[in-house]
Amino acid sequence: MDLFKPGTIRVTCAPGLVDYLEREIVELGYSVNSKQVTGIEMTGGLSEAMRLNLFLRTGFNVLYLIDEFSCASPDELYGRTFDIAWEELIAPDEYLSVVSSVNTPTITDWRFASLKVKDAIVDRVADAVGSRPDSGPQREHVVIHIYWHGQRCQVYVNTSGRKLADRNYRKIPHKAPMQETLAGGVLMAAGYDGSMPLVNPMCGSGTLAIEAALIASGRPPGLLRSNFGFMHLKNFDDEPWQAMRREARKVRRKSPLAPIVANDIDANAVKAAERNAETAGVRQLIDFSVCDFAETPIPEECGIVLLNPEYGERLGQVSELEDTYERMGDFFKQRCAGWTGYVFTGNPALAKKVHLRASRRIEFKNAKIDCRLLKYEMYQGTRRTVT
Ligand SMILES: C[S@@+](CC[C@H](N)C(=O)[O-])C[C@H]1O[C@@H](n2cnc3c(N)ncnc32)[C@H](O)[C@@H]1O
Repeated sequence: MDLFKPGTIRVTCAPGLVDYLEREIVELGYSVNSKQVTGIEMTGGLSEAMRLNLFLRTGFNVLYLIDEFSCASPDELYGRTFDIAWEELIAPDEYLSVVSSVNTPTITDWRFASLKVKDAIVDRVADAVGSRPDSGPQREHVVIHIYWHGQRCQVYVNTSGRKLADRNYRKIPHKAPMQETLAGGVLMAAGYDGSMPLVNPMCGSGTLAIEAALIASGRPPGLLRSNFGFMHLKNFDDEPWQAMRREARKVRRKSPLAPIVANDIDANAVKAAERNAETAGVRQLIDFSVCDFAETPIPEECGIVLLNPEYGERLGQVSELEDTYERMGDFFKQRCAGWTGYVFTGNPALAKKVHLRASRRIEFKNAKIDCRLLKYEMYQGTRRTVT
């Protein structure tokens, strides 16, 4: 089985991020064949898959299609997957995990489909080479994805393994951290490209500031990870991958970069953010401090100020937050003239308390919550604003 042969690659993403994922894929020089709510299909082989794993900021998993068939029952699923030459892809001493997305009247539990496919793969390898790979839920080695919707079943190798949102730098999550891929999409939506200052009060564990620093310094997020699913495929050749990583390192932008300022009122949050930034190798690019957002040090040159406040799940919390949102509006007016302000929130009623007119409302989802990135233009005289 030749995984370098151009075939179908499906890149998955969280709901709300597909337009940003498409933009990234096109900027990497690929054409998009089709686009769904949570993914994009394009043409490519293992080289393209490796490159996507290295560079994408908003994608979840890079899947390479190895077979596709019509399937009406679990036994048929076993038979059709047993027919695939798994011994060419998976060594008998490997560890394997199967993940399924199932929407078919035949079965109700996706775990049953995963079990059938796992059995077929290990039986096939055992028949071919005499011993069977180990298997389980961990996604650190070979990962196979099954999409079985209606009568159509697709079998993919997940070349990412663990999802790409797990960049490896957030060792200390603190409370309500934003997922790294969402932070990447929010920064893209805000037009952040690293050329202008970014101020991120309420930084929490630092995800937005760290993702911004990765963008500003031209570091692809995949450089932070040493493990991907494709590395565990039989006959994986490390040399082209290392060459790709060396090339990626060369495009790094050198300092001085536009300032990135991050703070939080909670000293533990800032400590966590600093440690995470250290792990990501961007600690020196971010000016951290502990303070109320209203006291944020604002750089001389205008840029983007991006707030991700809590949005409260209980009534009491919401009424406490009303004052914070009102003060955010005051902060924009009094301290951020000439800047472009953004508020990322999942609570439209609280957003109204900012008492400023948003010039754009960009839709996002955070887990299952509908969120908005609200844009506020804080005009002032001749100071430069970011568009
Ligand atoms: C939703 S969390 C931000 C999560 C962050 N984006 C991340 O990825 O970890 C909101 C943060 O606002 C901080 N915060 C709340 N009130 C604040 C205030 N008055 N000034 C500064 N930070 C505040 C909280 O400590 C919390 O860390």
